[in-house]
Amino acid sequence: MAKLLPALGLLLVVHIATSSKLVCHMTNWAQYRPGQGKFTPDNVDPFLCTHVIYALATINNVNQIVPIEWNDDQQYATLNNLKNINPTLKTLLSVGGTVNGMSPFIGTVARPESRAAFIRSAISYLRKHNFDGLNLAWEYPAHNGSPLQDKQRFTLLVKELVAAFENDARDSKKTQLLLSANVASIRATVDRAYEVNLIAPHLDFINLMTYDFHGHWEAATGHNSPLYPSSGDSGSHIHHNVNSSVSHWLDSGAPSEKLLLGLPSYGRTYRLRTAATGLGAPTNGPAEGGPYTRTAGFWAFYEVCDFLSAASPEWIDEQSVPYATSGGSWVGYDDQRSFSSKVEWMTSRNLGGAHVWTLDMDDFSGAFCSSGSYPLINHLRLSMGFPPKPSTTPAPTTTRDPILSFCHGRPDGLYENPADAGTYFQCFRGNTYLHRCQPGLIYWDSCKCCNWP
Ligand SMILES: *[C@@H]1O[C@H](CO)[C@@H](O)[C@H](O)[C@H]1NC(C)=O
Repeated sequence: MAKLLPALGLLLVVHIATSSKLVCHMTNWAQYRPGQGKFTPDNVDPFLCTHVIYALATINNVNQIVPIEWNDDQQYATLNNLKNINPTLKTLLSVGGTVNGMSPFIGTVARPESRAAFIRSAISYLRKHNFDGLNLAWEYPAHNGSPLQDKQRFTLLVKELVAAFENDARDSKKTQLLLSANVASIRATVDRAYEVNLIAPHLDFINLMTYDFHGHWEAATGHNSPLYPSSGDSGSHIHHNVNSSVSHWLDSGAPSEKLLLGLPSYGRTYRLRTAATGLGAPTNGPAEGGPYTRTAGFWAFYEVCDFLSAASPEWIDEQSVPYATSGGSWVGYDDQRSFSSKVEWMTSRNLGGAHVWTLDMDDFSGAFCSSGSYPLINHLRLSMGFPPKPSTTPAPTTTRDPILSFCHGRPDGLYENPADAGTYFQCFRGNTYLHRCQPGLIYWDSCKCCNWP
């Protein structure tokens, strides 16, 4: 038994709960990117983030949650099976998008019966697919064809969801489903869309979309996600930055610990119109789409890495973010240094943590940036003070402890522990995890499960 203690100590480190959240989004359309850009839930590192949000499912005309991609069911299973590897990982399903250019929530929130139908559908769908919660992706209540009353109806939806989640947890004796929302960051949009002080108490966390502040729809270069205003900002643009946006959410009555700072793993691009290349230089639409994300106007971080082989990064001091320019293209993006500045700022405001849009736009495989896999999000994790991940903890090389080195050279999977039938080993990417069966049961390799002796 004493021999188990070092291994258990290692396991406990992994399970230390930190109050801070690192929520990472993944998209079901990233599977269609070519070559090294192709991303599926198999590429999710189960120890990188505290929560993974799967985007995106939608709502049909009878208020039921429905998948969008042909293989969503299979991808849900792959993602949610990662919780066998890291039992503390939480997953949420993001629901929203547009149907004929409008949010499907507009119809769903309009009547009490349609909200109730949606809520019933959400609970059964999330439970069926083994998600831990729901993320609302409505951009935005009372905008884009949505009537003004939708501000109040969104509040009703949030309250009724949580009440139903409480009942479901009581009846099913399962952990209560989580509820979060992706929300706007521009002041005028926030004021029009949300009763901040009424929704915040009911949401488990709030994903502030503190990016897309500037982009190719404007006639001059500006940064996607600046921490502070620039001296060139005028009019409402003085509020198009992280500091101003989060301050507005706090002033509107959101508790700081519910707010998650949104960090982009992508940059926004422009085509320069003149020889000027600085912040505020005249532009003429977006730069060409990246070879993998293939959408004019933004590049994934790994595409920026490629671009940087021909361009040198410049640092915008007053906004604490970098940009780069080459051959008439301009990109404002985030890197490890800007993530560090934002984490420092986030900590000073006691925010609940960070969320990243998205896992699939970081250099998830490590093929592009020569900084290992997930260079941005791994850096973010460390900056936020999370303990090192088990998959990056080097096993002490001098140890003879059979437990710590058990998985060396073994394929991923479950194995019996010859020293103790009540426990078993799990090997994952060369690391060893020791699990214990419930009292009275022992591990049977024949079924790879715990059962009666
Ligand atoms: C950041 O926001 C705070 C609160 O609104 C404000 O007092 C401060 O001046 C802002 N900082 C900068 C550099 O804009």
